Amino acid sequence: MAEFLSNKINQRIQSDSLRSLKKLSGLIDFSSNDYLGFARSISLKKNINHFISQNEDYSIGATGSRLLSGNNAFVEDLEIELAKFYQAEAGLIFNSGYDANVGLLSCIAQRGDTVITDELIHASLIDGARLSNANKYIFKHNDLESLEEKLRNSKGNIFIITESVFSMDGDQTPLIEILNLTKKYNAHLIVDEAHATGVVGETGKGLVNQLNLEKEIFARVHTFGKAIGCHGGIILGSEQLKTFLINFCRSFIYTTALPYHSLVCVKFAHQELENDKISLSKLKNNINCFKLKSFEILKEIDSTDSAIQSIIIPGNKKCKSISLKMQELGFDVRAILSPTVPEGKERIRVCLHSFNSELEIENLLKNISKLI
Ligand SMILES: Cc1ncc(COP(=O)(O)O)c(C=O)c1O
Repeated sequence: MAEFLSNKINQRIQSDSLRSLKKLSGLIDFSSNDYLGFARSISLKKNINHFISQNEDYSIGATGSRLLSGNNAFVEDLEIELAKFYQAEAGLIFNSGYDANVGLLSCIAQRGDTVITDELIHASLIDGARLSNANKYIFKHNDLESLEEKLRNSKGNIFIITESVFSMDGDQTPLIEILNLTKKYNAHLIVDEAHATGVVGETGKGLVNQLNLEKEIFARVHTFGKAIGCHGGIILGSEQLKTFLINFCRSFIYTTALPYHSLVCVKFAHQELENDKISLSKLKNNINCFKLKSFEILKEIDSTDSAIQSIIIPGNKKCKSISLKMQELGFDVRAILSPTVPEGKERIRVCLHSFNSELEIENLLKNISKLI
């Protein structure tokens, strides 16, 4: 076994793609998913601590799964509150976005059904689809012709899976066009809103909400670990879908529920999102600033309207070395290497935040440009 492990690790070393855990601190944050600064918000922390100090008889852990001792009025009320917030009929909270996606995709499509996924969807959706007994097709990224070709060959109940904002490239799905195809082929659309939550739309409620399509989407997944600054996720859909998931979704059934403290954080972070319009508008200014400055400084860049921007630097070695030099210069940026992204598409992934300054963005771009 030791030989097998060492061979696999050596393969990674040879392709310059060995992953390791890093402890970077004190750098300018261009890497975390804390797009709105909620995870570091002092006022949010105060609200959470105050609320918890008034309810000190709570259990530290949930003590069981939701179907056993882990259910309570607080989590049920929060699900109702969040369903209302995101304008859905019902919501079911999961311990993470990963759990939500794996659970949903693995249980919803049965043998004889078809799951059609965009080629760039997140690993959690890929893993969920893999666990399902349905037929699987992959369509070219955001390519409607490719999607329709797969739809023509689909059987049984058909599920199309996309992300509103893609996690590696930060680009958006053509949701209206995909929905039109969904309807044409009597399919069901599942949208992962992980990187749109807190970011897309006037109020940060995601792309589906921005386009007023809540009633037309079979299921939406919002995660709480990114702009919401906490941890966990929710699947939004019909009451019927919620009952189905409570009965058949293994990543919901067979795990200890989120503890009270996490749920309180999720509740108050959503209140912050509702009340604090300034953070979102600062983030949007910074996205515009990045778009303008990156065009001026780097010229060849496909910038996006989201908080995620990619500076493509082909080759693991070069990309890694530039990201390390940027860290030495005080910028927390991370290299995304193959095989996480296709060879030749290695990149420095820049995450923008409400709390970055325009000067920090300009300096980041100037330094990357020099190093390239
Ligand atoms: C698109 C997408 N979906 C789902 C997830 C998983 O969410 P979580 O981090 O809450 O498990 C991620 C996070 O990396 C993601 O980028």
